[in-house]
Amino acid sequence: MGNTAERMVDIDVTDPKTGKRTITLPLMESSMGPSVIDVRRLYVDHGVFTYDPGFTSTASCDSAITFINGEEGVLLHRGYTIGELATKSTYLDVCYLLMEGELPTKAQQVEFRNEIVHHTMLHEQLSHFYRGFRRDAHPMAIMVAVVGALSAFYHDSLDINDPEQRQLASYRLIAKMPTIAAMAYKYSIGQPFVYPKNELGYAENLLHMMFSVPSEDYKANPIMVRALERILILHADHEQNASTSTVRLASSSQANPFACIAAGIASLWGPAHGGANEAVLSMLKEIGTKDRIPEYLAKARDKNDPFRLMGFGHRVYKNVDPRAAVLKENAHEVLDSLGKTTPLLELAKELERIALEDPYFRERKLFPNVDFYSGIILQAMEIPVSMFTVLFAVARTVGWVAQWKEMSSDPTTKIGRPRQLYTGQKPRKFVEINDR
Ligand code: CMC
Repeated sequence: MGNTAERMVDIDVTDPKTGKRTITLPLMESSMGPSVIDVRRLYVDHGVFTYDPGFTSTASCDSAITFINGEEGVLLHRGYTIGELATKSTYLDVCYLLMEGELPTKAQQVEFRNEIVHHTMLHEQLSHFYRGFRRDAHPMAIMVAVVGALSAFYHDSLDINDPEQRQLASYRLIAKMPTIAAMAYKYSIGQPFVYPKNELGYAENLLHMMFSVPSEDYKANPIMVRALERILILHADHEQNASTSTVRLASSSQANPFACIAAGIASLWGPAHGGANEAVLSMLKEIGTKDRIPEYLAKARDKNDPFRLMGFGHRVYKNVDPRAAVLKENAHEVLDSLGKTTPLLELAKELERIALEDPYFRERKLFPNVDFYSGIILQAMEIPVSMFTVLFAVARTVGWVAQWKEMSSDPTTKIGRPRQLYTGQKPRKFVEINDR
């Protein structure tokens, strides 16, 4: 860890205060993708900051976990394409890959699964937290609170400088997240909590905890299990997105790992990020019929209207989001196998077709993202809409954890402390209350 510079670049700067000058900076080479200008000594040596709100051109860290080529629509985890992982792997194998760097051998697969299933239960006192929420609380609100509350329960996994404790915290988070999510759902519908069943696979156990009731036997539909497994894989990690960067920034102060993941969940909730899957479904329902698509595209183009086409556009992808491509292909298969009608899927495909012919979307390279088709599949699986982003959080937990571990084990990590372009008042005299 800790890239070293191999070349130097000259940057010509015209500064009204100091005039013209050339600043020479180190250039760091990536193993793939753009090189990075190392500006770490810029302020100390040259007295200026860089300005990049929204981090559109800033690498906030170095990482060996996930690679995205947004122009080509490529997503790799540890070098493997997301398409191959989604179709040939299991979610737990992808978790292992993200955390450990390699796909597990058979022995490692068994060992890893054992580690995870032995942490699926929650401390019983945590269930009391749920009862403090209003019945109509959004499950994401419950997720933020309960995951944060884990920090008050698992004191033997809080020392982030101890690799064993870091590993234990990681296992706990990956293992407990489905339990926490399913309990949030059960609480919202007034049904009893269902304990995890460790003989079941990760996705199947989640469905079991969400949909089984004590009075009846429950066997998850294998089509739903596979579909959920695939959705979990597709959402497992995505490089330095808003929620992952939130986790990294929060933990840069060496904060409690569970609290840092809770911060990531809070960031994910927003409609510009993981909340978009819920928003896509609401939007499709509002559009209703194909003949209303042009009206909504016009709203999306109108700069005076805050409406955006949800599930469209991405900061990094300027091509088809490869996760959306897998989901689109998968959507028909899942809906047909579950015997569901497809009007929403047909509407979504038509919306995509018309939008991709529209100069506004073409010029801005706005394509469907992962959230565009996932909601349609989840709805066909009878997952309630309020749980869509929760499932994203369950899936993304491993990404947050892997990135947090990578960062915490790097001795060169510094506290995240951005600077600013100050635009406020210059020093002035205090004005007494009677003179204001
Ligand atoms: N509908 C209409 N116009 C859009 C959209 C959209 N969905 N997305 C971007 N634009 C326009 C935007 O108005 C801007 O136009 P102009 O150049 O004329 O000002 C241009 O495209 C560039 O957009 P931006 O907001 O500067 O791009 P960004 O990289 O800051 O935002 C985004 C990326 C994902 C927040 C944005 O595309 C968006 O709001 N999309 C809808 C929400 C969504 O689907 N989010 C899920 C993202 S993928 C999963 C995840 O990250 O969790």
